[in-house]
Amino acid sequence: MPVIPALRDFLLTRRSVGIAFLKEPGPNAQELRDILLIGTRVPDHGKLVPWRLVVFAGEDRVRAGEKIAQIARKRNPDIDEASLDAERRQLLPAPLTIGVIFSPKKSDKAPELEQLLSAGNVCHNLLNAAYALGFAATWVTRWFAFDVEAQQMLGANGGERFVGFIHIGTPAIVPDDRERPSLESVVSRWPG
Ligand SMILES: Cc1cc2nc3c(=O)[nH]c(=O)nc-3n(C[C@H](O)[C@H](O)[C@H](O)COP(=O)(O)O)c2cc1C
Repeated sequence: MPVIPALRDFLLTRRSVGIAFLKEPGPNAQELRDILLIGTRVPDHGKLVPWRLVVFAGEDRVRAGEKIAQIARKRNPDIDEASLDAERRQLLPAPLTIGVIFSPKKSDKAPELEQLLSAGNVCHNLLNAAYALGFAATWVTRWFAFDVEAQQMLGANGGERFVGFIHIGTPAIVPDDRERPSLESVVSRWPG
C-alpha cells in the first residue's frame, strides 16, 4: 500500500470542533452522500449492519429541537425559559446532524458488544468523513440519547438506541488541541 501523507498527518492532528462553532455552509447533497458512504464503511462482524442513520437538516433541526424542549419540560416542569431555549437549539447552529442508531441484531457469531463497537465506528467514521470533505464535526450524545421517549421521537424503534449525534458544519474557529494521554500511560508491552 502506498503511504498517504495527507491522511497520516490528518489522523495525527484530528480534533473535534464544538457544536457552537459549526456554521453554514453545511454539506450539499453530493457531499452528504459521500459522508454517509464513508461513515457506513466500517468493520461489522457477521455483516449484521447493527446501525441506522437519521439525518437532521434545514427546518427539521428546529422542529426536532421544539420536540426536545417539550420533552425536557415534561421531565422538569420548573424548567426556566433560558434552559428551554437551549433545548430548542440542541440541533443548532450546525447545518447538519446525523443521528447514529445502534440497532442490534440476533446473532450467534457477533455478541452485542461487538455490534455496539461497530456502531461506534460509524460515529467516528462520520467525523473523519466530514473532515475529508472539508468540514468540521463533533460527536455528542446529550440527555435525549438516554431518554426513551426522546429517542423514539428522534427516530429509534424498540430495542434500538442512539449512540451519537454527529454535528457537521464549517468551522468558525481553529480550536486548541485538548490534552491527549501520553502513550506511556496507555500502552504497555505484554509482559509474557
Ligand atoms: C460517545 C460519546 C458521547 C459524547 N457526548 C458528549 C456530549 O453529550 N456533550 C459533550 O460536550 N461532549 C460529548 N462527547 C465528547 C465530544 O465528542 C468531545 O468534543 C470530544 O471528546 C473531543 O475529542 P476529539 O477532539 O479527539 O474529537 C462525547 C464523546 C463520545 C465518544
